[in-house]
Amino acid sequence: MLIQRTYARALTARPPLIPFKSFTQSLPFSSAPLTKPHKKHYPPLAALLEIGGVKIAKDDVVKEGDPTNNIPDTIFSKIGLQLHRRDRHPIGILKNAIYEYFDEKHEGKFVKFDDLCPIVSVKQNFDDVLVPADHVSRSYNDTYYVDAQTVLRCHTSAHQAELLRKGHTHFLVTGDVYRRDSIDSTHYPVFHQMEGFRVFSKDDCGRSDMDATSHAAADLKKSLEGLAQHLFGAVEMRWVDTYFPFTNPSFELEIFFQENWMEVLGCGVTEQEILKRNGRTDCVAWAFGLGLERLAMVLFDIPDIRLFWSTDERFTSQFSKGQLGAKFKPFSKFPPCYKDMSFWINESFTENNLCEVVRGIAGDLVEEVKLIDNFTNKKGMTSHCYRIAYRSMERSLTDDEINQLQWRVRETVENKLNVILR
Ligand code: DAH
Repeated sequence: MLIQRTYARALTARPPLIPFKSFTQSLPFSSAPLTKPHKKHYPPLAALLEIGGVKIAKDDVVKEGDPTNNIPDTIFSKIGLQLHRRDRHPIGILKNAIYEYFDEKHEGKFVKFDDLCPIVSVKQNFDDVLVPADHVSRSYNDTYYVDAQTVLRCHTSAHQAELLRKGHTHFLVTGDVYRRDSIDSTHYPVFHQMEGFRVFSKDDCGRSDMDATSHAAADLKKSLEGLAQHLFGAVEMRWVDTYFPFTNPSFELEIFFQENWMEVLGCGVTEQEILKRNGRTDCVAWAFGLGLERLAMVLFDIPDIRLFWSTDERFTSQFSKGQLGAKFKPFSKFPPCYKDMSFWINESFTENNLCEVVRGIAGDLVEEVKLIDNFTNKKGMTSHCYRIAYRSMERSLTDDEINQLQWRVRETVENKLNVILR
């Protein structure tokens, strides 16, 4: 069932008279000096973007007051930045390293797409890849809707069907994807994925003594093990069976890296229904999807996902074209400041909605939003206490600045989410 909400208009903020209960972590780095932000170039918020030949005006994407639209300004401001198309950005460097692997193995057979428009239809994003009608990923709580039929793609799999219909048999699609989510050091509502797809004709399979599905699965596993080695060197790997609506069988590849098993990607043999619907009746195919931030964080030692969006030259100057795995050196560590907030929730409360409000106000200054207490009283009312960690990646924050943010967060949470502050 889709959960639809209407956001009330934000109220003007006022600073509090009494600061909220807050504390700063008393670690050695908590005495970091007040520093000015380094040279920055904030791109102005473009009113009109063009991506892959599609013109996008802000009003086409952000429609305040329209209950079928849940896209805030902060998300619109990320559309068109295309970190994956920057050769000196960790995301672009990783994309190029994966391209290089497929070019070496398959002599340039894979066609690459990295400029497909992220605004897609519900049909492309879900129906075309057989996502069930009641799947949670379709909810307004998980996906950004432009209107009831249009979304910001939540995965690059959204382009499989159209590329198959155009006759492509080997392709890689890289792009920014959008998901409503909670806030911590590894989750950000915009991130980047790469999708790979390979179709085998009957002839290709006929040459093997395995059945077509096993042939595709074996080729898929071999290709992706090679990719993991290309990126991580000689690592231990394992395959885990899983479920995706668009593949059967479906697998996840995990590697043993820095003392932990880490999921690298999802993949599988494409459901025949997808091939059939798109004009490929006598074939089998494999597909995979991987999250670029997740891999780049370990390859480049990047501790917080917000850093990918930093325009601070102390971040950007540390990476060069073609240099996969140059280790990021933190330029400073600034103290986090924690603020707790308790309220009685109502039936429609979700953590994703809370996080959207906090990000809308604090932007990239919010590091984590964490539920630290949860109870239901005798009357059946449920209380949640959230701890918000504020920390800039680039400078020290003042108490006053954080108090003002927290004041606005409290006011907006109360008004937009209709909870009762305690
Ligand atoms: N679309 C999946 C996701 O976003 C990733 C994925 C898994 C893509 C398996 C695939 C696949 O093409 O075969 O989580």
